[in-house]
Amino acid sequence: MERNDRGNFGSKLGVILASAGSAVGLGNIWRFPFETGNHGGAAFILIYLGCVLLMGIPILVAEFMIGRRSRANTARAYQKLAPGTQWRWVGRLCVLTGFLILSYYSVVAGWTLEFIVQAGTNSFAGKSPAEFIDLFNNFVSNPWRPLIWLIVFLLATHFVIVRGVEKGIEQSAKIMMPALFILLLVLVGCAVSLPGAGAGLKFLLEPDFSKVNASVLLGAMAQAFFSLSLGMGCLCTYASYFRKDTDLPKTAFNVAWIDTAVAVLAGFIIFPAAFSVGIQPDAGPSLIFITLPNVFQQAFGSLPWLSVILSVMFYVLLALAALTSTISLHEVVTAYLHEEFNMTRKKAAWLVTTGCIVIGIFCSLSLGVGKDYTLFGMTLFDLFDYVTAKIMLPVGGFFISIFAGWYIDRKIAWEEISNNGTLHPLIYKVLIFVLKFIAPVCIAFILINELGLL
Ligand code: PHE
Repeated sequence: MERNDRGNFGSKLGVILASAGSAVGLGNIWRFPFETGNHGGAAFILIYLGCVLLMGIPILVAEFMIGRRSRANTARAYQKLAPGTQWRWVGRLCVLTGFLILSYYSVVAGWTLEFIVQAGTNSFAGKSPAEFIDLFNNFVSNPWRPLIWLIVFLLATHFVIVRGVEKGIEQSAKIMMPALFILLLVLVGCAVSLPGAGAGLKFLLEPDFSKVNASVLLGAMAQAFFSLSLGMGCLCTYASYFRKDTDLPKTAFNVAWIDTAVAVLAGFIIFPAAFSVGIQPDAGPSLIFITLPNVFQQAFGSLPWLSVILSVMFYVLLALAALTSTISLHEVVTAYLHEEFNMTRKKAAWLVTTGCIVIGIFCSLSLGVGKDYTLFGMTLFDLFDYVTAKIMLPVGGFFISIFAGWYIDRKIAWEEISNNGTLHPLIYKVLIFVLKFIAPVCIAFILINELGLL
């Protein structure tokens, strides 16, 4: 049933910070560096940038348009704009994807809390690179600690969500995002001035196209979707709280550049640091939990108090970046349950939180006691990452671009995207052209290739 008690973002800055808060998260600081490391550095980054431009920004605009026009949760949005059609399944797929991502994402988000404690108790002091690897491995394979942090993290998300759109989501983003930027810049400064950092910079800046293959293409596309929170109705849900005068293309552009800048800056922290302490950049998901403690050690070993302060700050801000993203994931599912099943927001939020805790526990255990149980050669955790980021998000993005490019009424599209006619018609035409042809064809090509259907 339709509810008319929907919240709204209060200010333009709030809109940008909350949307950028959804986009900026572990995807930028945790996933981007290790995907870049696994896929050969600069060439991956260039392809990634191409994906952001060719698919990311247009699909962002499409999600904004669908959300603001329908003023409903993402599942209902399609029902409203395409009543009586099968499009409603796209909305439901989005909600399911959000739920699954939130479950495994919160596991890693929980790790950041453990590392705040480790950093704060000065347990990085005097450790060798090998000991940092042990520290991390012992922690993730501990049967309890990661689970407790997972629950704490989901509860923190829960409490922001129950405070509502303006007081919860918007206010928290206004505090957390500026803090994140300041810290990133400080850390980039520290990392690039480490001895031996040059090799890391080279890795980031000198493309080696001989490493590019189908899996690099898929990795870059998946990363663009994941990092921009695309293909699963997150920004569509946020846009349903935008005001009529919010400029959609401009907001999309701002979100995209902020997100990309943070990812690249994170690369400028991790790689110079990793090379400087002699760690291979393809360490995978554990990269930032092993290399960064090393950076703090090496750079400030002689000033232990500074090392403690900076490392605590880094993990606090990593946690905050993750929190602004888990809030947006949670909101997709909460808004859906709240509006579709006529339950209170609080009850809907509890259902989501509990469901994610249960699934998250399995994902977390799959990295420790359950690591011998694999499916298609992957642990449950890796399987969730693969299926959601590499399949569900691109599939969602494919349908969103077809919906926006081909199905939706042109008049509606123009009204929403043109910002009361102030957008240059050429930009509008280019956006629609990309949504009609380029984005769906690229996504389909990359997916078909990866799944071996060609
Ligand atoms: N974009 C977030 C990040 O980079 C993750 C995310 C994915 C959030 C999908 C919402 C939806 O960490």
